[in-house]
Amino acid sequence: MSFCEEKPGKSMKKALIHLNIGFVVGILSVLLIYLVASQRSAVTTCAVATTVAQLITDKQLIKEILVKLVSACTISPIADKQLNQGSGESSEKGKVVYNTKGYYSETCEVDGDVRINSTALTVSLVPTSWSEHREWRIRPYSRKTMPDVKMVTVTQLQDKAAAPACTVTYSVPAVLFALGGLTGNFWHDFTDVLVPLFIASRRYAGEVQFLITNMRPWYPVAYKTILQGLSKYDVVDLDDDAHVRCFPHVTVGIHQHRDLGIIPEWSPGGRLATPDFTRFVREVYALPRDAPASLVREPGRRPRLLLIHRGHSRRFMNRQEILRAAEAAGFEAVAMDLRRDVTVDEQARVVNSFDVLLGVHGAGLTNLLFLPPGAVLIQVVPYGKMDVIATLEFGEPAKEMGLRYLDYSVTAEESTLLEMLGSEHPAIKHPGAIHRSGWDKMTEFYLDKQSVRINIARFTATLTQAFDYLRQQ
Ligand SMILES: *[C@@H]1O[C@H](CO)[C@@H](O)[C@H](O)[C@H]1NC(C)=O
Repeated sequence: MSFCEEKPGKSMKKALIHLNIGFVVGILSVLLIYLVASQRSAVTTCAVATTVAQLITDKQLIKEILVKLVSACTISPIADKQLNQGSGESSEKGKVVYNTKGYYSETCEVDGDVRINSTALTVSLVPTSWSEHREWRIRPYSRKTMPDVKMVTVTQLQDKAAAPACTVTYSVPAVLFALGGLTGNFWHDFTDVLVPLFIASRRYAGEVQFLITNMRPWYPVAYKTILQGLSKYDVVDLDDDAHVRCFPHVTVGIHQHRDLGIIPEWSPGGRLATPDFTRFVREVYALPRDAPASLVREPGRRPRLLLIHRGHSRRFMNRQEILRAAEAAGFEAVAMDLRRDVTVDEQARVVNSFDVLLGVHGAGLTNLLFLPPGAVLIQVVPYGKMDVIATLEFGEPAKEMGLRYLDYSVTAEESTLLEMLGSEHPAIKHPGAIHRSGWDKMTEFYLDKQSVRINIARFTATLTQAFDYLRQQ
């Protein structure tokens, strides 16, 4: 089994909890430098990075360093060899392949005579002849650190006698995954569940059974179109099930590669990439546009800009002024609040009719999934060193999806935090220190308390750039 499976000793865990984040960042940076200097340290570095990743919230600034470290694990020859044990489909019958690439997720591919006892949440592989007893404990949510997600036990049984009798037998494979966690946030609904589920199940072309734990009953309703696009069968709620369900193959847990994205080498058979997901989304929602308005073919046409309006935090205080500036820059500009008052299906169609999506960093920008490739995403990055998070969560995904990406970083003068807190407040003077003091403080100031009043004169350059991108289409 790969080394990443080994849990660190208790004393190590305790010691790490007591390290302050700044110190951890320091250590990780030193490790990264050491790693570059000596590929031999890759195994240790990966193990430490994975451990630290489990102990901290995943959006802090050190996320970037962790991403570098963890990807360093996979490019190193030593680590790659070990990690490849868990890379994909098994070739022989009767096999469990454990996979923990990246730092978000752990999954098991169980192939052979697989029996799931829903009550016990056990997935047993029944061997054809006597074999070694082995056991894995998997949290089937794509962020393995979510404490509320129920553990699933995967067992390779020693012999047939211990196998529970099947009450339902399937000829198709299954993917077992959890909801709960951070679902309910539009971005997490996709990055934690739908993209990883696409990675796990696309290869089956609909002939796959989904099994869900930590059920959120609204979820299969809200994302019915996507779930039906991936599976021809109704989902099974394992929380409310007393069967022993038997399959020829089960994937336990789903694998999050990166924010809203797919790393082709990690996908089953190496066949999928991020644009495959957005193409699939356009297909299942029957979105008509796969290119933005062409100003070459239709001179004089006004490209459409959608401003996403947030109701609570991170609001545009001068929305009307921004819309007028966008009109002046040549767009037909519309502001919309897309949260919860329309179905995802309607929302997808509305967003697809636009050429530019503009919004302050937040879940609403997840609507970038519905834009035609070649369209422009403008992310307004709130004050307070939020660039790294903004880039990882939306900037990089946008580029991978074939969109043009622009960001606009708000200055202290454009943030409502300045008038609220005064220029001497640490949140204004020392954003780095706020980040180091932890995820809670960072969230409180920069995500929850802040709204923005865009400096139109400064923002016009960004609008012009967006228009120029479309002119090139
Ligand atoms: C399934 O698990 C439950 C709870 O552990 C147990 O009581 C039951 O006997 C199991 N069913 C079978 C068929 O083994």
